[in-house]
Amino acid sequence: MDIDLASLTPRDRYKLLCGVVIPRPIAWVTTCNPDGSTNLAPFSFFNVFGADPATVVLGLEHHPDGRPKDTTANIDRTGEFVVHILTPDLNEIMVESAAQYAPGESETEALGLATEPAARVAPPRLCAAPVALECRKTVGLSLSPERCILVGEALSLTARDGLIDLDTCHVNWGDALPTARLFADRYARLVESDRLTIPTRPERPDS
Ligand SMILES: Cc1cc2nc3c(=O)[nH]c(=O)nc-3n(C[C@H](O)[C@H](O)[C@H](O)COP(=O)(O)O)c2cc1C
Repeated sequence: MDIDLASLTPRDRYKLLCGVVIPRPIAWVTTCNPDGSTNLAPFSFFNVFGADPATVVLGLEHHPDGRPKDTTANIDRTGEFVVHILTPDLNEIMVESAAQYAPGESETEALGLATEPAARVAPPRLCAAPVALECRKTVGLSLSPERCILVGEALSLTARDGLIDLDTCHVNWGDALPTARLFADRYARLVESDRLTIPTRPERPDS
């Protein structure tokens, strides 16, 4: 089967792409609303795209009426956001935070999620999340009237005690690996992994 993606509606393209490019990590993002309260929403068009600089990318769609989401508007205005990585125990409340709250309404307050001040940016960190990346916007790319790609630099990484061995820079998630998003309302738990080492090839003699 060969599908010409350009011939599909955006909705069908979304369903197919989100169904085949899985799993995706989830960025649970705090930003500052204009009144200083905290906005929170999850985004799975997300990943890190390099370490020098530490590059974070979010794919932000606008509302059907063309209005940017609160996260987008807040990052455009302040240039600052905090990405949290979550574990499956937080899935339910993460999904609740994606509901349509009134513009400016604080999801952390509505959901009773405790926060603590971040060290380098104004949006606070979620106490419940095992990892937080404090980020500053680098550039936003408006790809269409409906969506933009936001590139940011992660300035710091905060991790719960015991997660990171700083001597070796090893991250030990134990049995609680981060949530993996599949498609629609499906989420996966990462339970098994294989170890594979890239082989070293013998050097080819100069010809
Ligand atoms: C797991 C999950 C992943 C999501 N990923 C995205 C995404 O990548 N881009 C996007 O625009 N919306 C995404 N959403 C929808 C937003 O979270 C939702 O529109 C939210 O209400 C936006 O909140 P805000 O207006 O406070 O920024 C996702 C929702 C869920 C539950």
